[in-house]
Amino acid sequence: MTPISNFNAAGHATPDDDVVQVQCDYLKREQAIGGYWLAEQHSDDWQTLYQHLADLINTAPVNIALQDSATRAMQMALLAIPWQSGDEVIISDWEYGANLVPLLQLQQRYQLNIKRLPNRHGQPDFSQLPALVTAQTKAILITLVGSHNGAILNTQSFTHALRSFSGYVVADACQALGQIAVDVKAFPCDFLLATGRKFLRAPRGTGFLYASNRVLQEGLFPMVTDHSASRLVPELDFELRRDAKRFECWEANWSSRLGFKVALDQLLAKPSAIYAQLAEQSARLRAELASIAGLTMHDSGDDLSAIITFNIDSVSAPILHQSLRARGIETAVSYVDAGWFDFHQRQLPPLNRISAHVYNTEHEIAELLATLHALAG
Ligand SMILES: Cc1ncc(COP(=O)(O)O)c(C=O)c1O
Repeated sequence: MTPISNFNAAGHATPDDDVVQVQCDYLKREQAIGGYWLAEQHSDDWQTLYQHLADLINTAPVNIALQDSATRAMQMALLAIPWQSGDEVIISDWEYGANLVPLLQLQQRYQLNIKRLPNRHGQPDFSQLPALVTAQTKAILITLVGSHNGAILNTQSFTHALRSFSGYVVADACQALGQIAVDVKAFPCDFLLATGRKFLRAPRGTGFLYASNRVLQEGLFPMVTDHSASRLVPELDFELRRDAKRFECWEANWSSRLGFKVALDQLLAKPSAIYAQLAEQSARLRAELASIAGLTMHDSGDDLSAIITFNIDSVSAPILHQSLRARGIETAVSYVDAGWFDFHQRQLPPLNRISAHVYNTEHEIAELLATLHALAG
């Protein structure tokens, strides 16, 4: 098969060969000796995986729960918050559709009042937070890097605006981890979630949830758990795990988890260099794209990530996407559900999205730009 240039790291980044190799080897060994025995033999790797995820966001392994996606992790967090009828939730305009749908479903169940923190100059308008927060505000959902707008949240301003907030902060770091540093000590939140397959370059079906010490101490758990998150004890009662594994299910795809561990071995060997390379590469790519006649950029804000959105004036986003695929270039299209409020506010059509990673070569970038020049001309 002809190799493609993958400019869709924000969708599914190409995992390193070593990541894929350990997964294949693990599956072969599972076939040979059985999944239970093999998982026991890898107990050190599982510990390393929790430690890596803790190191990635500056917390402890007890605060980490492995998940199979960011969406599942978000559901676990939302199901753990002790909602009461009439509670308020504040959300930003960058919220991804998979975060909005469960919230709307909870709204039906608990008559939640969902309030929006609108955008100003490409950032959520933090100056409005104090006026929005009331005694009924149970939670704030915030996204660190928007899926569709290239913007990086100013976490310092957000943290400052939240000084006296006593509800739960749920942070979506799905597009942030792997491309920028995130530190839950500097950016205090109660839950933080991410998926593995994006900028972390881990296998599909991986992800995690961070649960703060407050969450653990308050005994929050996701409405229902299984019998490993809560142990059965006499006389037919259950005892909740003390750590964040209370948000996990016993069954999992362990070959993917091993791949996740190896992807993190590689990232954590030189995180700053990877973040710097992504920032430099995307700034250059963004500038080149902006100079193409007939191409309109749609990123918003000053602090921009490796996610770049645009349209070519003469071609709709889905058609351009297919034309690039036909030339062996994988990109993505962002539709309205990637940022419902922002799309409506800015009256955006579906957007073309490019997200490069460190594996993209200069040759691939030059070919992408030449192709876009030709298609826009
Ligand atoms: C900002 C953001 N949050 C959440 C998700 C959901 O991630 P997953 O599909 O792994 O559940 C995505 C996926 O694109 C995303 O971009």
